[in-house]
Amino acid sequence: MADPWWKSAVLYQIYPRSFQDSDADGIGDLRGIIERLPYLVELGVDALWLSPIFASPMADFGYDISDYTAVDPLFGSLADFDALLREAHAVGLKVVLDFVPNHTSAEHPWFRESRASRDGPKRDWYIWRDGALGGGKPNNWLSEFGGSAWTYDDPAGQYYYHAFLAAQPDLNWRNPAVRAAMHDVMRFWLGRGVDGFRVDVIWHLIKDDQFRDNPPNPDFCAGDPPHRRQLPLYSADRPEVHELVRELRSVVDEFPERLLIGEIYLPLDRLVKYYGRDLAGVHLPFNFSLLETPWDARAVARLIDRYEALLPEGAWPNWVLGNHDRPRVASRIGQAQARVAAMLLLTLRGTPTLYYGDEIGLLQVAIPAERVQDPFEKNVPGLGRDGCRTPMQWGACAFAGFSEVSPWLPLAENFAGNNVACQGADPASLLNLYRRLIGLRRRRPALRRGAYRPLQAVGDVLAYFRETEDDRLLVALNFDGGRAALTIPSPGTVMLSSSGDRAGEDVVYSLTLRPHEGVIVALGLGRTEPTSAN
Ligand code: NOJ
Ligand code: MG
Repeated sequence: MADPWWKSAVLYQIYPRSFQDSDADGIGDLRGIIERLPYLVELGVDALWLSPIFASPMADFGYDISDYTAVDPLFGSLADFDALLREAHAVGLKVVLDFVPNHTSAEHPWFRESRASRDGPKRDWYIWRDGALGGGKPNNWLSEFGGSAWTYDDPAGQYYYHAFLAAQPDLNWRNPAVRAAMHDVMRFWLGRGVDGFRVDVIWHLIKDDQFRDNPPNPDFCAGDPPHRRQLPLYSADRPEVHELVRELRSVVDEFPERLLIGEIYLPLDRLVKYYGRDLAGVHLPFNFSLLETPWDARAVARLIDRYEALLPEGAWPNWVLGNHDRPRVASRIGQAQARVAAMLLLTLRGTPTLYYGDEIGLLQVAIPAERVQDPFEKNVPGLGRDGCRTPMQWGACAFAGFSEVSPWLPLAENFAGNNVACQGADPASLLNLYRRLIGLRRRRPALRRGAYRPLQAVGDVLAYFRETEDDRLLVALNFDGGRAALTIPSPGTVMLSSSGDRAGEDVVYSLTLRPHEGVIVALGLGRTEPTSAN
C-alpha cells in the first residue's frame, strides 16, 4: 500500500488573524489566505494547518469556540471556507483544521444551558464541583493562564473547571453525549472535505475522576509560568485519555486519507504513547522538543537519538520548529542559526511543521503595553504570545502588504527590509533556502523516507546520514560561528549549502564547514546532479 500523503508532506501553520487581510479590518481572513495560495505553492509546502477560524468571542483568539460548525465573520463565511478548500485542493494543498475539544467558550449555548441550573440536561456536559468542605476551591488545580482552574458560578452555586481562561470552561469528556456531539463536529468538517485536524491540548481531555490535588513540582524555576508550580498528575495525561484518542481516530478513519495530529506538551516517553496501542491513536503527536532543547549540537543530537529510540514500531516521527505559542525561532537562536535550523527541520526523518513567517525569519516583536492582546500576557506579564503572532511581512509597502489599515498587532519594525518580496528577489535569502530545502526534500527519497543514522556530534557540529537503499545523503550542521571540519566516510558532492553556493563541490573524506553553515552532501553513488540555484 502506498504511504499516506502526510508522511512525505511539509505542513505549514497559518495563524489566520495574521496571514493576509482581504477586507481592510486589520485582521487576516480566509479570502486573504486564498489570495496567498500561489505563495504557498511556490514555497513548496503540502498542507496548511489553520489555527481556529470558528465562531468565537475571541477571548483566546479563537481557542474559545461558541459554535463549532460556523466560521467566525471576522474570518469570512462557510462559503469562503469552502472556496478556500476547493482552491487549495485545486493547487494540490491539503487543509487541516484546528479542533478544540477540551473546552468551549463560556458563550457556547451548551455552557449557557449548563450553568443555568443544577439539574438541566447539559449540566453534566461541563465539570462542576461543590466547594471544598469549609469553603474554597474544590481542589488545588491551576489554570495554565494563571490562578486557580476553578471559577465559582452563581446561579447554581458550584465551581466549574477551566484548564485555561474562565471564559474557556472544560467539557466533561466522561459524558458520552459530549463525545457524540464532538464526534459529529468532526464529521461535519471531514464531510466538507478537510484533510484532518490538529487537536488542541489533546492530553488534557480527561481529568482524574476523584479530583485529587496535584503535587508540587520540585523542579519549578523562577520565571516559569505559574501553573508549573504543580505537576499536573491528576489534571492531564490520565490513562483514560487514550481511549478518547482512539475514538477520535476512528471518526477520522471513517473518511479516507485523513490526518489526526495531537497537540501534546509532554516528556518524550509519554508523548509517544499517543501513537496509541497498535498505532490507533493520533497519526502524529506533535513533537515540540526542538522548541525546548538548548540550541547546541550535542543536545540536539541526544534529543534526536532519544526520540528515534522511543518511537514505537511503525510510528512516523515529526518535528516542529515554531508555533503561535512559543517565541520565534529566529529571535531565540539568531538569524544565522535560523538557516541551520531550517536545514535541520527539513532533513530530519519525519513530517516537518513550519510556522508562518519563520521562512523569512520573522522576529519576536516587542508589544507595547497598550497594544497587548493575549489574555495570557494580561494575566502573567512577560510570558505572552503576541510577539510571535504579528502580521506576515509581504512587502515594503504600507502595513507590509498585510492589510490596508493598521493591523491588530503591530508589525515588526524591520518589515520594510525583511519581507517576502525582497527575500524572494535575493537568491541568498532564508526564503530561497527554505524553497530549495523543500524542493530537495521532495526530490530525494532519502530525505522523504530514508533512515536516520547519526555520524557525529562533536564540538559544534552535528552530522547524520539519511539513506535509502539507493539514495545516501550526509547532513552536516555547524551550530556556531567558528569554522569546523569533519571526516566523512566516502566521497560525495555538495547538493546544498545553507550559506552560499557550494552546490556541485566535490568533497573527499573531509568536509569543511563555514561559520553557521549547514551542508547536504550526496554520498557514494558516484557524481550526483547538484541542485540548481532555484
Ligand atoms: C493550545 C493553543 O495552542 C493555545 O494557543 C491556546 O491558548 C490553548 N491551547 C487553549 O486552547
Ligand atoms: Mg480581514
